[in-house]
Formats: sequence, structure tokens, C-alpha cells
Amino acid sequence: MFEEAQYFAPITADEDGSLKVHLGAGHPGFADPEYRARRDALATLASTWRPGTPCPVADYTDAEHRVWQVVSEALVTKHRAFACREFLDGKESLQLPTDHIPQLAEVSDWLAPLTGYHYRPAAGLVPLRDFYGSLADKAFWSTQYVRHHSVPLYTPEPDVLHEVVGHGNTLANPRFTALYELAGQASRRMRSTEALEFVSKVFWFTLEFGILWEEGELKAYGAGILSSPGEIEAFRGMDIRPLDIAEMGSTTYDITDYQNVLYVADSFAQIEDVVGGFWADCTDESIARLVGRHEERLHA
Ligand SMILES: [Fe+2]
Repeated sequence: MFEEAQYFAPITADEDGSLKVHLGAGHPGFADPEYRARRDALATLASTWRPGTPCPVADYTDAEHRVWQVVSEALVTKHRAFACREFLDGKESLQLPTDHIPQLAEVSDWLAPLTGYHYRPAAGLVPLRDFYGSLADKAFWSTQYVRHHSVPLYTPEPDVLHEVVGHGNTLANPRFTALYELAGQASRRMRSTEALEFVSKVFWFTLEFGILWEEGELKAYGAGILSSPGEIEAFRGMDIRPLDIAEMGSTTYDITDYQNVLYVADSFAQIEDVVGGFWADCTDESIARLVGRHEERLHA
């Protein structure tokens, strides 16, 4: 899931324990009472989950399954053209259905023999420390709702398509999950909020929106790009910069539109070396030094 608070519609609890999701006026589902009721119901469902139990079953409607189908089918050829080899290998192993939304509990069962990762259901925003810390336990917090049917090809909110098609296919490949685990372990070492945010921004510009060179072609490996049929067509035209940990960890980004600054790796092995290596070794102190050097560079 996405990690920044602003991605998530605020949620409040009624006296009976049911949750209400407060969509903003600009949300495509804002004026659709049926959609809003579904969002409330799915948030409430996630809140019933208890650790150690499977994700609760979401009783998806035919209309929700159709959105999944439209997006999954749109992504078949786009993944073949623009997804990196490691993602396609994960996709081949996981074999997600394209005609209906799988349950998070099912996807967790399919991931178990591949990498051991499993999903936990999120009603909405999961605090940074919980979200990243859980990665070290091979657990991935995930929303269960589906984007509004009027905008199947892009959503600024992390819906189940993003979580399962985008992240799930990567969570099926041990080369990816080694990186997720390192990010999780790094987040657990961080004492300050600033250092934790730095770790999360590096995650954002890599495992969410990373791209790489593969046999002379630009490919995507970030789940945010690979779950968006619109963004996957657009990423090659963005401001593409070389992989730079200090810059990625210090850059702010706008979550409401396509990401227009992307960082490219020379290869998947370079991501493992540079990004994995950073997460493996970083401390509050090493991050403070990187930030300091980056600021000096900016002002030189
Ligand atoms: Fe995500």
C-alpha cells in the first residue's frame, strides 16, 4: 500500500463500531452513495481482523469484479511490454486470476510456498512504523476496496488492484521480497521519524515507482507504475534521473498525479546492491550524514 497519510481518506468509527470513510469532494466516488457504502463496509470488515487469523473474506460485487477484470486485461500486454523480468517471473509464479478479485487470504496462501509473504487487511492508513515494520515479518498491509468504476485506469488511492497486482506479483519473487524485508528491517532500526521517512521515501522511489534498464529498454519494477495502466504508458516520458539514495530520500513528491520524477537503475542487480545495501546498513546517523551531504550539494 501507499504509505503517506494524504493518500488515505479519513476514517471515523460510529458508536456501533462500524467505520465511515470520508471521501474528498474530488474523489470519483464522492457522489455515488452505493460506492460510499461499499467503502464503509470494506473498511469495517478490515477492522474485524485479528492478528494470527486469515484476512476476512470481502464479498465483492459483480461491478467490482468487472473493474478488476478491465484493469487486469489492460495490464496483460502492458506488463509484457514494460514490466521488468523479475516482475514477470513473479507474475508467472503467482498466476493471479484476471476475471475476478481474489481474496487476500487466497493470495497469501499462494504466496506462502513462493516467498512466505502474507497480507494483513488495512481499513485505511497504517502508520509508517507498522507498515514498514511488518515487512520484516513478511507481512504486507493491504486495502481491500476497489477503485471507482468511472476511473479504472488510474487511482491515487492504493486499492486492492494496486496491492495485489502491483505488489503481489513482486511479493511472489524472492529477489523482490529480499528487498522488502531489508526495508522492513531498516525501518525497525530507525529511532527518529526523520530517518524513518527517509527510508520510506527510498522505498517510494524504488519499490513503488522504480524503473530500470533491461537490455537497452526502460522497464518498470515499481508497484505503483505496474498497477496503473495509465502510468505504465507514461513513465518513459518523465524526468528520469540516475539512482541516488540521498536525493531519493530527500525529495518530496506529489501523490495526486503521475510521478514525474523517476530514478532509474542500470539493472536489477544494481537495485540489490545500492538500495538493498543502503537498507541493510543504514542507521539514524548514516542517514543524517547523507541528508547533510545532499543539502551541501544543493547549496554548492
Ligand atoms: Fe504501494
